[in-house]
Amino acid sequence: MDVMEAIRKRRSIRAYKNEPISDEILQKLLTAGQLAPTGNNKQPWKLIVVRDPEMRKKINDACAQDFIGDAPVILVACSSKEPKDMNTTIVVDHITLVAVAEGLGSCWIRSFDEAKIKELLDIPEEIHVVCLLPIGYPAENPEMPERKPLSELVSYEKY
Ligand SMILES: Cc1cc2nc3c(=O)[nH]c(=O)nc-3n(C[C@H](O)[C@H](O)[C@H](O)COP(=O)(O)O)c2cc1C
Repeated sequence: MDVMEAIRKRRSIRAYKNEPISDEILQKLLTAGQLAPTGNNKQPWKLIVVRDPEMRKKINDACAQDFIGDAPVILVACSSKEPKDMNTTIVVDHITLVAVAEGLGSCWIRSFDEAKIKELLDIPEEIHVVCLLPIGYPAENPEMPERKPLSELVSYEKY
C-alpha cells in the first residue's frame, strides 16, 4: 500500500474485533515510530505498550469513552518535553499509517484522566502523557468525515 492510499484509508476506529495483533506486526508499528523525525533527533518520547486485559480495562475506565479497552493493544504515548509534544505526535502519526497498511485501525485519544493513567502505569511525575492510541482489527468501517476544501485550508505565498 503506498503512503497516500494509507492516508486516504485511515479512519478513527472506535470498535475492534477480539483478535490479537502478532508480535511481528507490533514490532513493525513500533519501528515506524522509532523512525519518525524529532527536533534535533532528541527523541524525547516513550511508548508504553499495554496488552494486559485487566490493565486495558483500567485504562478504559480512565478515559471519557468506553471502546478503548476493547482494542488488543493500547499505546500510551509519553513525552519528557511538554504536554502536547509535537515530536511524540509525529511518532504516533507514523504508527497510525503503518497500522492501516497492516489492516489495523486506531484512534487518537486525548480525552483521559492523565493523573489516573500515570498512577496506573508508574509514569514518573515529570513525564507527560500526550495521547493514547488503541489499535486493533476494525469492527466498523466508518465513512470519511467531510474535510474542508483545500481552498479554505491552503493559501499561497501569504496567509
Ligand atoms: C489530537 C487528536 C485528538 C483526538 N482525540 C480523540 C478522542 O479523545 N476521542 C475520540 O474518539 N477521537 C479522538 N480523535 C479522533 C478525531 O475525532 C478524528 O480524527 C476526526 O473526527 C476525523 O475523523 P477520521 O480520523 O476518521 O478522519 C482525536 C484526533 C486527534 C488528531
